[in-house]
Amino acid sequence: MTAALPKAELHCHIEGAAPPRLVRQLAARNGIALHANLFDGDDRFAWRDFSGFLDAYDRASACIRTADDYRDIMYNYLADCAREGAVYVEVFSSPDHAATTGIGYADHLRGLAAGIDAAAAEFGIVSRIIVTCVRHLGPERALDVARAMLAEPHPYVVGFGMGGDEQRYRPADFAPAFRLVADAGYPCTVHAGEMAGPDSVREALAALPVSRIGHGVRASEDTRLLDEIARRSIVLEVCPGSNLALGVYADTAAHPFLRLREAGCRVTLNSDDPPFFGTSIGKEYADAASRFGMGEADLLHITRTAIAGSFADTATKNRLLARIAKQLDEFTSPTATSLSDQSKRRPLS
Ligand code: ADE
Ligand code: ZN
Repeated sequence: MTAALPKAELHCHIEGAAPPRLVRQLAARNGIALHANLFDGDDRFAWRDFSGFLDAYDRASACIRTADDYRDIMYNYLADCAREGAVYVEVFSSPDHAATTGIGYADHLRGLAAGIDAAAAEFGIVSRIIVTCVRHLGPERALDVARAMLAEPHPYVVGFGMGGDEQRYRPADFAPAFRLVADAGYPCTVHAGEMAGPDSVREALAALPVSRIGHGVRASEDTRLLDEIARRSIVLEVCPGSNLALGVYADTAAHPFLRLREAGCRVTLNSDDPPFFGTSIGKEYADAASRFGMGEADLLHITRTAIAGSFADTATKNRLLARIAKQLDEFTSPTATSLSDQSKRRPLS
């Protein structure tokens, strides 16, 4: 039912987007021995908990050695997304991970941009980059990333963000880095309310100039905070498959996706680190339909929210929004057929 729906994604880490097959290829061509425990017996990334996940993520990232490697990961990821109906994908990149293997900031972006261009030419998918810092590396490193981003502006870099271990440091510690990029006109997002509770989200919203929150699901434990998120039109980059894989929630019934939506929060669907969590943007939409009972029109609204909340330039956003609006109109007109019926007659353009 959801295959033909246009989709948009705001939250995927490019270093966490290479499937085991591609990581093996990169390791082989770079002459690197893979870490013995990187994969399990079923050729999936092996990890048990959040800190084990971060270790596995770093080990997979260590196989990325050149700008071409970044190009290939980006192209491969966007090709998969396009095949699943994605029209827009905003990808987090980590210059700190690139630097660990000797890739400088400009080369890192050159590779990513080449992947974006190749996928755009072949599939028509639009993609932009959010440069991220890593919370557990600390505020000084975050400031370095922010400075590098401003020193070498790139047309595809549209915003700034932060992932990493939410239990380390406080949001206010990162205010200098976020202020620097925000004052230069870049919109920002920050991971919060994933591995820590509502206080983490409240503090992030108080201390940092952000219009989006990565995850934010644990804000659901505080109704006043939910009111604030709704009132301030903060967009939540919800990643249900990631939350379930990491054990933030035991099962779909416990996941607050619907409660966030009912509280008036602007929710989107995202895959986070797809091969680590056994998910994809297409699967997130399909699961939202089958597990959360979202209909096609609901999902189209989610795509619209993602595009409206994206950090793309206004012309790009308006172009994509116009396309969604046309489909929403068709969908809600009195003679409307379902999108899955429509897709049998003509491809979604
Ligand atoms: N980096 C990559 N994936 C992440 C996640 N789910 N949470 C925090 N940092 C991350
Ligand atoms: Zn994330």
